[in-house]
Amino acid sequence: MKVLVTGGAGFIGSNLIHLMLAEAPDLEITNLDKLTYAGNLENLADVADSSRYRFVQADVADANAVDRILADGFDAVLHLAAETHVDRSLEDAAPFLRTNVLGTQVLLEAVRRHGVKRMVHISTDEVYGSAPPDASFDESAALLPSSPYSASKAAADLLVFSYVHTFGLPVVILRCTNNYGPYQFPEKLIPLMIANALEDRPLPVYGDGLQARDWIHVEDYSRAILAALRAGRAGEIYNVSAGRPRTNLEVIRTLLALLGKPESLITFVQDRPGHDRRYALDSSKFRDELGWAARRSFEEGLAATVEWNRANAAWLERCRSGAYRDYYQRHYVDRGKTLASWQG
Ligand SMILES: NC(=O)c1ccc[n+]([C@@H]2O[C@H](COP(=O)([O-])OP(=O)(O)OC[C@H]3O[C@@H](n4cnc5c(N)ncnc54)[C@H](O)[C@@H]3O)[C@@H](O)[C@H]2O)c1
Repeated sequence: MKVLVTGGAGFIGSNLIHLMLAEAPDLEITNLDKLTYAGNLENLADVADSSRYRFVQADVADANAVDRILADGFDAVLHLAAETHVDRSLEDAAPFLRTNVLGTQVLLEAVRRHGVKRMVHISTDEVYGSAPPDASFDESAALLPSSPYSASKAAADLLVFSYVHTFGLPVVILRCTNNYGPYQFPEKLIPLMIANALEDRPLPVYGDGLQARDWIHVEDYSRAILAALRAGRAGEIYNVSAGRPRTNLEVIRTLLALLGKPESLITFVQDRPGHDRRYALDSSKFRDELGWAARRSFEEGLAATVEWNRANAAWLERCRSGAYRDYYQRHYVDRGKTLASWQG
């Protein structure tokens, strides 16, 4: 099966590609990524020469480029490309609308035109907004996004429905909770806290730190995406979660204990405007239908993530300095492997 992954140079995408290359020998993967600040091809350096993998730099909102790539003939599209950092969406929402909304529409149109038989659209639990205490949202809950990021993801979901309804496009939507694990860019909570703590720098905690998130290990989520690709029902939404929300402060304290660092590094800072208090999903539909369950406990996954960041201090440092960004030039542009050389 020829599979196009968008956003494969990011955190979840690169973990997903590693998993597919390791465990799904029937899949041939093309990774379409614009390489924004969040795209890091070093994440895939170990598989770059695999005969089942190739990379093409393109903007998912560029209709000509996407059309040219899809013309190569794909059996399935896994759509992960997005602007993803809520804080950045508060500074400038425009790239979020362009990539997350227009980019999704461009892709849907190309999927329709080229008759792709399957698409998995990667949405987020944030489209539901903040969950009341002790309640969790199932797939029928209203969309009440609170940030420009989550509003752009909700808009993308609605566009997907319109293409499913009007054109019968075979798209499955996944809405997942917060992921953590290897290759996560150190602007997100867990790798940021690990990176700061390793250097004995303050850990900035928004507000009172009691915002609750239901963390899932990225390998577990990658398996969920693969399960949706194989057996998800077209036109359906599935929530995906590990099932145990915990507060940011709880997560940070666990991290400090794992790292052997003092809690005095915790520094409370002004809360993010509009910060959702709690995310919680009912993911029984996905578990029951697809037989999926998280394999890793949070404690085990977090300890492994701390170890991964420790063992990959050079990767973390290149993320922080920006040095990772010259990888594409050296390994692709200098070797003539660009979109211009794409064999469509
Ligand atoms: N990380 C999470 O906790 C989480 C939770 C739920 C849902 N999601 C969703 O999963 C998907 C992947 O998230 P992530 O954490 O891996 O994101 P990420 O920010 O790590 O990676 C995003 C990737 O998309 C690429 N990209 C951005 N704009 C693009 C464009 N215009 N054209 C092509 N590529 C572009 C970037 O270069 C990067 O490689 C997103 O759709 C996100 O909304 C993430």
